[in-house]
Amino acid sequence: MNTPQTRYALVTGGASGMGLAIVERLAQDGQHVFLVDRDAAAAERETQRLRAQGLAVEARVLDLMDEAATRQLIQALPPLHVLVNNAGIFDERKFFDVTSADFQRMYAVNLLAVATLTQECTRKMAPGGRVVNIASRAYLGARNHPHYVASKAALVGYTRACAMELAGQEILVNAIAPGLIDTPLLQALTPERRAAQLALQPSGRAGTPQEIAEAAAFLASPRMGFITGQVLFVDGGKSLGGSNA
Ligand SMILES: NC(=O)c1ccc[n+]([C@@H]2O[C@H](COP(=O)([O-])OP(=O)(O)OC[C@H]3O[C@@H](n4cnc5c(N)ncnc54)[C@H](O)[C@@H]3O)[C@@H](O)[C@H]2O)c1
Repeated sequence: MNTPQTRYALVTGGASGMGLAIVERLAQDGQHVFLVDRDAAAAERETQRLRAQGLAVEARVLDLMDEAATRQLIQALPPLHVLVNNAGIFDERKFFDVTSADFQRMYAVNLLAVATLTQECTRKMAPGGRVVNIASRAYLGARNHPHYVASKAALVGYTRACAMELAGQEILVNAIAPGLIDTPLLQALTPERRAAQLALQPSGRAGTPQEIAEAAAFLASPRMGFITGQVLFVDGGKSLGGSNA
């Protein structure tokens, strides 16, 4: 049952991987979560599964590249307390093979969709609101996906800009930089690339979606305060820059 105290959260890319774990974690915290994804079948299936556990989750099917539909969706929802910009795309391309179309596609989802959604949501977000952006450790620099790396570096820049813009409204905006996390996105790497990536992990393993969800729940919590514009690395030590020897 929704009461005036109900906290509303929206998680993009909520039908799979980290997004799904974040939806579940925020709902377990007692929040009413809108699971947004373009994959209608997965969004409905996962929503039903979580609702069967008594969690307050509603699916909204949307392609975030459709700016008008994105703005309409937010206008139709109650004001949100928490926005988690998690949806993102990734692919591997050799440096000399990347085209400007690859850059545009990557930026459209990983940055422009985030900007549209954040602007529309924070327009009516009350003081105490939280925005959490899922960037990537790769923004520090990585091989074989320069368009992805650049889009996530831009997302970190956007996070910092938003933090400045929204501090006066008492809205805190932070990013998480996941390292290698065991999701369908990781499974899409070739076995050789996956093995090479794991070999670089100081922890010797990939992280779990639930470990990202725990960090997101912290940054989304009303009890978390006075932290804004920061990047929280959740990467098993990969960003430490040691030789792993
Ligand atoms: N998996 C990793 O190792 C890793 C590491 C660092 C950062 N990340 C980032 O974490 C986030 C989540 O990654 P994941 O591995 O859980 O991905 P995933 O592929 O498992 O899930 C992404 C979800 O986003 C949805 N989505 C993609 N584009 C969309 C669009 N235009 N509109 C609506 N929904 C859309 C997909 O349908 C999917 O359900 C991404 O931003 C990714 O870049 C992942």
